[in-house]
Amino acid sequence: MSERVVVVPDFETMSQSAADSIFEAIRRTPSLLICAATGSTPTRTYGLLAECCTRSPELFRRVRIIKLDEWCGLNADDPASCEMYLQQHLVQPLKISGDRYIAFRSNPENRQAECERIAGALAHKGPIDLAILGIGVNGHIGFNEPHAVFAAHAHVSELALESRQHAMLSKSTVDNPQELVRYGLTLGMSDLLQARQVIILASGSSKRQSLQRMLDTSATEPASPASFLWQHHTNAVCICDQAAMQDDHRDAALL
Ligand code: PGA
Repeated sequence: MSERVVVVPDFETMSQSAADSIFEAIRRTPSLLICAATGSTPTRTYGLLAECCTRSPELFRRVRIIKLDEWCGLNADDPASCEMYLQQHLVQPLKISGDRYIAFRSNPENRQAECERIAGALAHKGPIDLAILGIGVNGHIGFNEPHAVFAAHAHVSELALESRQHAMLSKSTVDNPQELVRYGLTLGMSDLLQARQVIILASGSSKRQSLQRMLDTSATEPASPASFLWQHHTNAVCICDQAAMQDDHRDAALL
């Protein structure tokens, strides 16, 4: 198994390991631009950053955050929105001021214009220094869904059924969010490929298949977004727990 893959015993150790890498990156680059995924996978990692910020607020004084993606159709105050998640888990705990936060607006009137605004902001303030990413059960990264061709920059993405079935949406206060939310706004594949460092997190048996596909660099079929990023990024590591790793790889690189 490649040394780019770190297999740890459990979710807590995965989160601690990711948080340690983030601390190290902030110490090297105090104005680090972190691309932050939402979802259950990075939640504890962000919690560890928040705990550290309580002890050492000066470490985070210049840190910047860019939101990876957002559901189309949900307002910012909807409990299922990515905005709500990031406000709760990162932006407020780390006291990220508005000038240090780049984020797709929730439910913009003109989605295309909103993507152009974010692409412009990233062109001006990027590239991303460190992307903290999870994998979807279908191999998506952000809302870059499995397609033969990937979009380079911020774009409107038609969501795969698996993405619309994500547990996050069940927190929404709208009726039938799975029906309402058919599109997402997301950073694109080039934005992630240009990130100086990428950490992909995977936890739990539900991620076994997508993780396996990502790591199987001999696969010739059209790549999932995760495998495409994994194959083409020169500074990406994957930190996963044993439950996410297939049996035959369990003993490899065990921390
Ligand atoms: P999860 O979602 O972290 O909640 O598993 C990841 C994703 O679907 O991208």
